[in-house]
Amino acid sequence: MAIAPQSDPAIPHTTLVLAMSLDGKIADVQRGAARFSSPADLAHLETLVAAADGVLFGGGTLRAYGTTLSLRSADLIAQRQGRGQPDQPVHVVWSPSGNLNPKMRFFRQPVRRGLVTTAAGAAGWGADLFQHIWPIPEAQTQPWDWPWILAQFRQAGVAKLALLGGGRLSAELLRCGCVHEIFITVCPLVLGGATAPTPVEGAGFLAQFAPQLRLLSNRTVGDEVFLHYRVLPLHPTANSFTLENNQPSPTG
Ligand SMILES: NC(=O)c1ccc[n+]([C@@H]2O[C@H](COP(=O)([O-])OP(=O)(O)OC[C@H]3O[C@@H](n4cnc5c(N)ncnc54)[C@H](OP(=O)(O)O)[C@@H]3O)[C@@H](O)[C@H]2O)c1
Repeated sequence: MAIAPQSDPAIPHTTLVLAMSLDGKIADVQRGAARFSSPADLAHLETLVAAADGVLFGGGTLRAYGTTLSLRSADLIAQRQGRGQPDQPVHVVWSPSGNLNPKMRFFRQPVRRGLVTTAAGAAGWGADLFQHIWPIPEAQTQPWDWPWILAQFRQAGVAKLALLGGGRLSAELLRCGCVHEIFITVCPLVLGGATAPTPVEGAGFLAQFAPQLRLLSNRTVGDEVFLHYRVLPLHPTANSFTLENNQPSPTG
């Protein structure tokens, strides 16, 4: 029987980290940057980024923020140095089109940058802006073959990956059974709006095949609740049924 992606040592240990409103939105209907969480949540996010060898986020998220979260805490950077890690993890954006504005501040931040894209999306990007470019062969993009892509990250030295959203990218990795842990911070506001992004977009999962979670911890700081879940290993044939195809993905 094929090994479930989540149990495969060839892919990085992957932790999804998000903040959402009480009504389950990760941004408002304008789909801009989400700046509604507290300083405690930002410190929590920085700690999780500091623990990672790489962070991965979607092009929609990068366009919303224009930046990535580079580590500023001297303590966290010193801890990385003590572990023999570079000061900053590699920051990787998934953008099939590669249509990103090179004038974004992201491209001037003191981090190594990576791009996961198509052959067409890779055209025109040089090593000055992206030090790592993974042009994914077309056969691996229909649908996107995340176990295969993450194995490339693992080979490039990324053993721990922080997945920072947005909802479309989270859906992609969950669809493939590639997420091991989820940290969600529930923030004390209500955003509403049918088109506001949620933690997991995409086609959705049929309930009987949905990823199942085990609560590892919960913590309250002020009016925010910090939740930490483990994603349970999925049945190898059930893990990839979605409303989109009702068929097992290549990982199934
Ligand atoms: N609260 C939080 O913790 C948090 C965290 C992260 C993000 N966010 C919010 O989430 C929002 C972004 O999330 P998102 O789900 O829109 O984007 P995303 O997951 O960051 O990126 C989506 C990517 O999907 C690709 N894509 C493939 N099919 C697509 C389609 N049909 N339509 C659009 N894009 C498609 C796009 O590629 P191309 O690049 O080729 O267009 C884009 O790069 C922002 O508002 C951001 O502030 C919140």
